[in-house]
Amino acid sequence: MARIVKLTATGPVKVEPSDKPIFVCACGLSKKFPFCDGSHKPTREEEEGCTYRYCAETNAVLDKSRDA
Ligand code: FES
Repeated sequence: MARIVKLTATGPVKVEPSDKPIFVCACGLSKKFPFCDGSHKPTREEEEGCTYRYCAETNAVLDKSRDA
């Protein structure tokens, strides 16, 4: 079974439970999910109005399509 999830975040969600902040991945590309590992950086170059598909192993962009 597999699924495709469409995410639009280009950075993590910052959680501050007490003295040390925690960054939770919101882009879906982290290899240390649920924690941010910096893999979101390429998403900041994404073109508005497009959907990107990334390789689950390398995070390389596999393809990009214009949203309808
Ligand atoms: S928000 Fe996903 S890796 Fe940083």
